[in-house]
Amino acid sequence: MLHVVIAEAEVELIPKSIARHPVIRREARRRRRRAEQMLLDSSLHHTAMRSLSEASRRGRPDIAHYTLLTLLESPLNRLGRLRCYLHTRNDEVVFIHPETRLPRACRRFRGLMEKLFAERRIESDNAVLLELKQMSLPQLVEQLSPERVVLLSEAERRLEVWELARELALAESACVIIGGFPHGDYRGDYPFAERVSIFPEPLAAWSVASEVVSHYRRCIAAGEAKP
Ligand SMILES: C[S@@+](CC[C@H](N)C(=O)[O-])C[C@H]1O[C@@H](n2cnc3c(N)ncnc32)[C@H](O)[C@@H]1O
Repeated sequence: MLHVVIAEAEVELIPKSIARHPVIRREARRRRRRAEQMLLDSSLHHTAMRSLSEASRRGRPDIAHYTLLTLLESPLNRLGRLRCYLHTRNDEVVFIHPETRLPRACRRFRGLMEKLFAERRIESDNAVLLELKQMSLPQLVEQLSPERVVLLSEAERRLEVWELARELALAESACVIIGGFPHGDYRGDYPFAERVSIFPEPLAAWSVASEVVSHYRRCIAAGEAKP
């Protein structure tokens, strides 16, 4: 089994400190919501975000959205060999049922995340599709207890993605961590993970996710994997 964690994803509700900014209040009025129930989105709220720390990397639900679509719609997921998780900058983890069909429109994805933050779980036909828990990345990895943990980052020991996939497929279960932020390094230090780069240049998180799951599936097809 391959576990993929989108880590430190820039997905959060609008912080209280900017809830009364005119841009936010206008949107809250239009959507008939409380400001603190809406998702922070830099494409809509950049002027209001100027006073936030680390403003240049925050409010990026689009990265989590594209990466989750890539993972959930991948052939590896259809084969039942993938589990995905979304870990946020505020140490929440979204547990995602592999059969979850995410909305493709960004606006609808935002609405779904807002509902999840409000209700903590999204169910359909008696199955829990999404569940939000307060949990740090080390706690999540400990719970998954994979044989191998690899954290992907651009400036690390280079390993071709097909070599990495082969090593991961040979493990009973493996966990790959991909940053869900637009630039910069991970904010946390995760000594339990091997750090690997798969390309000499920075790539988008969804492109990295696509490379990993497709090469991992190729290893399974070639019989280079633990059943
Ligand atoms: C836009 S990047 C963030 C860039 C960041 N400077 C970094 O160190 O990777 C989002 C995530 O994609 C993955 N990523 C991007 N380029 C990569 C590369 N060349 N090798 C491995 N992972 C990469 C990493 O997990 C990264 O956190």
